[in-house]
Amino acid sequence: MKILVTGGLGFIGSHTVVELQNSGYEVVIIDDLSNASIEVLEGITSITGQQPIFVKLDLKEKQEVRAFFKKHHDICGAIHFAASKAVGESVGNPLMYYENNINTLVYVLQELKKLESSNFIFSSSCTVYGQADVMPITEKAPIKPAESPYGNTKKIGEDIIRDTCMVSPDFKAIALRYFNPIGAHDSAAIGELPIGVPQNLVPFITQTGIGMREELSVFGNDYPTPDGTCIRDYIHVVDLAKAHVIALQRLLNGENDSNYEVFNLGTGTGSSVLEVIESFERVSNQKLNYKVVERRKGDVISAYADTTKANTVLGWKAESSLDDAMKSAWKWQNTLN
Ligand code: UD1
Repeated sequence: MKILVTGGLGFIGSHTVVELQNSGYEVVIIDDLSNASIEVLEGITSITGQQPIFVKLDLKEKQEVRAFFKKHHDICGAIHFAASKAVGESVGNPLMYYENNINTLVYVLQELKKLESSNFIFSSSCTVYGQADVMPITEKAPIKPAESPYGNTKKIGEDIIRDTCMVSPDFKAIALRYFNPIGAHDSAAIGELPIGVPQNLVPFITQTGIGMREELSVFGNDYPTPDGTCIRDYIHVVDLAKAHVIALQRLLNGENDSNYEVFNLGTGTGSSVLEVIESFERVSNQKLNYKVVERRKGDVISAYADTTKANTVLGWKAESSLDDAMKSAWKWQNTLN
C-alpha cells in the first residue's frame, strides 16, 4: 500500500517513514527541503534497506499538488507533517505561517478527497490546549486561544479537517496532538537537524554538551512547580512515529469510531527543565553548563498528557524513558560532529 508522507524528510516525518517501511508500506515522500536535508533520504534508506520515492515539491503550488495526485492516484493514505514550526518566527511573519501551514493543508485535502480511499493523519500539537486547567491533559480539555500564529495554524488545521469530515462521510482523519518530541533513531542515522540556534530545549542541551554553545539558558525558575522550572511531557520520536503507523492502520482497517478522531501522544509523565538537564548529565556522564534567566514569553507552566485514550483505543503506549530518549539525542549529536 502506497502512503504519502508530506514533510517526510523532517524530524518526525523521517522517523515515521522508517516505521512505515518497517511495517511493509510503500512510501512516497513530498518535501520542499526548506527545513530538511536531502541526506536524510540516505539515512532512512540505510536503516530500512529501501529507498522511499522522493518528490521535491512545494505544497503551496496548487497545480503541482494536483499533478502529483493525478500521477499517484493509488495512494491509500496521507500523513501530513509539512509545516513551518518556529513559534517566534510565526509571531513576526504570521501570513507566511498561514500560507505555509493552511493553504498547503487545504490543497492536500482537496486532492486526497478525490481519491477512492481518503485516510488522513494530521500533525497537531498540545499547543492547542494552551495552559490547560487540569493535569494531565485529556482530549476533552478545552481548546484555548492560540499564543502564536504557529499555534493557531494547528487549531485552524484541526477545524478544517473536522469540517471536511463532517460533510464527507467517506473521508477519514485522525489528528495527533504531540507533546514534546525528542531524541533520534537508535541507529543515529536520522535525528533532529535544527537550522541555526535551536529554539527547543533538547537540541540546545546536546549542542551545549558538545561545545557548540557556551551555556543553556533555563527560562525561569520561579514557576509554581516543584523545582520552579516548567514541566513538559517529553516523548521519544520513535515512539511517536510508531503511533502514526497504528493510527493509519486504524483508518485503513476501518476500525475508527467516527470519521474524525483526536488523540494525545505523550508519555503521561511530566518532567521539569532541571530534570531534563539531570537526565542529560546522567546519560552523557558530564555536567551541563547552564544558567537561569528570565521566563520566555508565551511558555505555559505545565503540560503533560493523559494518554488513556491512545493507550486503550489506539492500543499504543510510549515505551522509552526520558533517559532512553536523551541517550539517543546525545548519540545523534555525537554523530553530527
Ligand atoms: C514549543 C512550542 C510549541 C511547539 C513545540 C514544537 C513555545 C511556547 N511552544 O514547545 O508550540 O509545538 O515547541 O517543537 O515555543 N527551555 C529552556 N531553555 C531553552 C529552550 C527551552 O529553558 O533554551 C524550556 C522552555 O521554557 C520550556 C521547555 O524548555 O519550559 C521546553 O521548551 P521547548 O523545547 O521550546 O518546547 P515547548 O515550548 O514546550
